[in-house]
Amino acid sequence: MSAPPKTVLTATADEEAAIRAAVRAADPQTLAKGREIAGEKHIDDLVDLLIDPSVSEAIYDLPRPIDHDHVAAWVADYAARRERGEGLLIVVPDWGNGVVSYSQITVWPERASAELAGAVRADMQGAGGGGEGAMRVFDWMFTELKVRLICLTAAMDNERSIRLIDRAGFERMGTRDALRPDRSIRKSHYWELSRERWERLRSKT
Ligand SMILES: CC(C)(COP(=O)(O)OP(=O)(O)OC[C@H]1O[C@@H](n2cnc3c(N)ncnc32)[C@H](O)[C@@H]1OP(=O)(O)O)[C@@H](O)C(=O)NCCC(=O)NCCS
Repeated sequence: MSAPPKTVLTATADEEAAIRAAVRAADPQTLAKGREIAGEKHIDDLVDLLIDPSVSEAIYDLPRPIDHDHVAAWVADYAARRERGEGLLIVVPDWGNGVVSYSQITVWPERASAELAGAVRADMQGAGGGGEGAMRVFDWMFTELKVRLICLTAAMDNERSIRLIDRAGFERMGTRDALRPDRSIRKSHYWELSRERWERLRSKT
């Protein structure tokens, strides 16, 4: 289950409303060409993507078991969150060949904060695409969704994620007991990145 950041920000009523409006109106094409909001037509492709343990095993908050009904409920949940301005589920379709990757953005507008989770198809892992895509999503979350803080978790042995998140400039803030949908605990590394820090790091590159 997605959990808000350890750091507690308090948004003003205007800021909260602006974030909710931004999430509702967000166009994933402005993130990158080809990105789409996940919908019913993507359910079977998402099952095919996530059924592969090398894609899904490391992710604590995916619906389980991974089958049509659970993935359909997940897609519907994020459609409802989008309506409330509290989340987005974005996919990259592969020209009629399934789905290449997904990004799940959970937003707490009243805290001007968000969390990102995601994965890329096994045959595309380790080639730099996930790192590049994640950097773009972080940027988009700060600029388009207007949040001020992003938190992330990764399994203690998820080397690729750990390297990617450290390199993006996130600050390590210990560990977190992430709660799986079956209520079991997955111990995770935990990071945060503020908008100020992101802007400072970007201005140096
Ligand atoms: C995590 C994930 C999105 C990263 O995307 P990717 O395209 O595979 O990763 P990249 O090729 O951009 O590599 C990311 C970093 O890991 C490093 N890396 C790549 N393959 C590696 C390997 N086999 N072992 C250790 N590090 C590796 C890269 O060098 C890079 O580090 P650098 O930025 O310091 O050079 C992708 O691997 C994935 O979907 N994994 C399964 C799901 C998952 O773990 N999701 C994230 C949960 S937090």
